[in-house]
Amino acid sequence: MAEKFRVAIIGTGSIAHAHARSYLKMDDVEIVAGSDIVPGRARAFLDEFGLKDAVAYEDTQKMLDEVDLDGVSVCTYNQQHVPCAVAALKKGLNVLLEKPMCVTMEQAEELLRAEKESGKFVSVGFQPRYDPNSKKIKEIVQSGTLGNIYYVQTGGGRRRGMPGGSFIKADTAGIGALADIGCYGLDMPLNSLGYPKPLTVSATKFDRLGKSPVMNPQWYKEFEVDDFAVALIRLEGGITLDFRMSWAMHMDTCGATFFLGDKAGFKVNPTEGLWGGAWDGTVGSMTLYHDDESGNCTETPVPYIQHSVDIFYEKVRAYVNACKNGTGAPVPTREIIYNQAILSGIVESSNLGHEVEIKIPEV
Ligand SMILES: NC(=O)c1ccc[n+]([C@@H]2O[C@H](COP(=O)([O-])OP(=O)(O)OC[C@H]3O[C@@H](n4cnc5c(N)ncnc54)[C@H](O)[C@@H]3O)[C@@H](O)[C@H]2O)c1
Repeated sequence: MAEKFRVAIIGTGSIAHAHARSYLKMDDVEIVAGSDIVPGRARAFLDEFGLKDAVAYEDTQKMLDEVDLDGVSVCTYNQQHVPCAVAALKKGLNVLLEKPMCVTMEQAEELLRAEKESGKFVSVGFQPRYDPNSKKIKEIVQSGTLGNIYYVQTGGGRRRGMPGGSFIKADTAGIGALADIGCYGLDMPLNSLGYPKPLTVSATKFDRLGKSPVMNPQWYKEFEVDDFAVALIRLEGGITLDFRMSWAMHMDTCGATFFLGDKAGFKVNPTEGLWGGAWDGTVGSMTLYHDDESGNCTETPVPYIQHSVDIFYEKVRAYVNACKNGTGAPVPTREIIYNQAILSGIVESSNLGHEVEIKIPEV
């Protein structure tokens, strides 16, 4: 039998469990190690999955130095994504990196540089791309049915869905709702459009509910990030992207996601109750808005694909396949750098109080 693909998980908190469950379903993969800076956490994590032979570390660099590996999942909080991913790249490993890619453009540039120098790849964890309905959306947007697309609104958001823990601190998450689920809200339309380059952004972000003792009694004192953000982004090709994202608000939804073209429009509703764009629901019902042959306004529902695809498994499997087959990153940094640059642009514009140019590092 061929040797198994030897993988380690860096950062054994919540989402690491979804990575482990996915790897454990694969006959050709073995989880051989895990690391976490919290003493005992990596050992407890590996034991939880019955991985008695897998080795646990508190020092990620030591693990990378000592264990023979074929790949790593980086599942740390956002601020530690780049140090851990860069350390793995320097060891000649391809990296499956959780979303968002990072926090600042300085971190993004460091990651891209390390990726280039290593000749290895970083694939960013956007599992909604593996939902058949997300694939359908991209197919429709790319088909030309809409004509020339000039405006996109990306909506959804949560009415109540404020996390705590590492998600609300500046030194762990760095950015709040904007990056946590906003990165999905950007990836769906941008991936569908073929990731046009972002040019400028005007944005505001808020922390009203996060800092409210009434709305957020458990965490308000520690809340250091945003809970709501809006932005108007100019994209290459004459497209305007209207973005809103929320962890909590006194409203049911920030709206549907929709695409306006000069031949037709296409609306993607959020899923019932909440939408983070990811594990808590990808997309809801879809409708095409167009004229019939007589020029009358017509609406055509797009059949919703009921499926049992485990999108998280698909993302992890795509990473393993790409490592084994040498086919490059399934979700490449050359796309996600635009996503990250928009997030950074939103932070900068909101802090400065005016529109800013979106800067893309040249690596
Ligand atoms: N794809 C998804 O659906 C999804 C869902 C939830 C979270 N996430 C992302 O996953 C990441 C982690 O989220 P979480 O909920 O698991 O957070 P978490 O706080 O539960 O876990 C993060 C873990 O990383 C550890 N860590 C930090 N720095 C480290 C380092 N240098 N080396 C080793 N371990 C380190 C922490 O001690 C902690 O145990 C975040 O970036 C988040 O955005 C993705």
